[in-house]
Amino acid sequence: MLTVNDLHAHYGKSHVLNGVRYQLKPGEIGTILGRNGSGRSTLCKSIIGLLPPTSGSVNLGGRELAGRAPHEVSRAGIGYVPEEREIFLNLSVDENMTIGRKKGIPGAPTWTPEELYDLFPRLRERRRVKAGSLSGGEQQMLTMFRTLLGNPLMILIDEPTEGLAPKIVGVVRDTVLEMKRRGIGVLLLEQKLSLALQIADHVAVMGHGEIVFEGSVEEFRANHEVRTRWLEVS
Ligand SMILES: Nc1ncnc2c1ncn2[C@@H]1O[C@H](COP(=O)(O)OP(=O)(O)O)[C@@H](O)[C@H]1O
Ligand SMILES: [Mg+2]
Repeated sequence: MLTVNDLHAHYGKSHVLNGVRYQLKPGEIGTILGRNGSGRSTLCKSIIGLLPPTSGSVNLGGRELAGRAPHEVSRAGIGYVPEEREIFLNLSVDENMTIGRKKGIPGAPTWTPEELYDLFPRLRERRRVKAGSLSGGEQQMLTMFRTLLGNPLMILIDEPTEGLAPKIVGVVRDTVLEMKRRGIGVLLLEQKLSLALQIADHVAVMGHGEIVFEGSVEEFRANHEVRTRWLEVS
């Protein structure tokens, strides 16, 4: 289980995370909704060590990770798929996949490149092509597959479907559902409410660097006050 407790983070003097509490269990899809600038990406970066938190706790299965370097957090079992597609443009698809491979944590679900190509055969067809010549959607899937080849226990995915065609959004959805089926805990940050609400097991809403709502998809849908106050542009 991933437990974030009273997490604070700053960019210089600007206090961006203001005591975040959040929990994610293996085999569960959680989503955090929020307006632009509410702090969702910053939360991911603080959990994985790109922006070390100023205080608070990030605990994975009893192990304290707050303030650890990104490679240590990754080795402990937390995968991260950033908003900016993170691949080597001059290397082939296959080479990018190979670089992602890690031994992984005992007990974590493991993946092979061929299983991942089965989820998105288009990428298999292009396996010898340089990543730089892929479409945006293909690059997004390659970024996600590379992270999965690190065999994480938990994965944080920041706005994977931003700007993607509906067909590729379907591939993202199927891939996330396969992660859940294999027992990975998935934190999905999405702009498209429709995808998040279709597949999430629980919904949180972030406002001013705090979690201001937590509940089931049904509870979220029924809560007009939360939506108008924290999400819809008035
Ligand atoms: N690198 C940065 N330096 C300074 N401020 C930043 C930086 N990145 C984000 N911020 C600020 O932190 C706040 C939260 O941003 P972010 O976590 O990106 O929100 P979200 O992902 O929910 O849109 C915003 O006010 C944003 O302007
Ligand atoms: Mg963001």
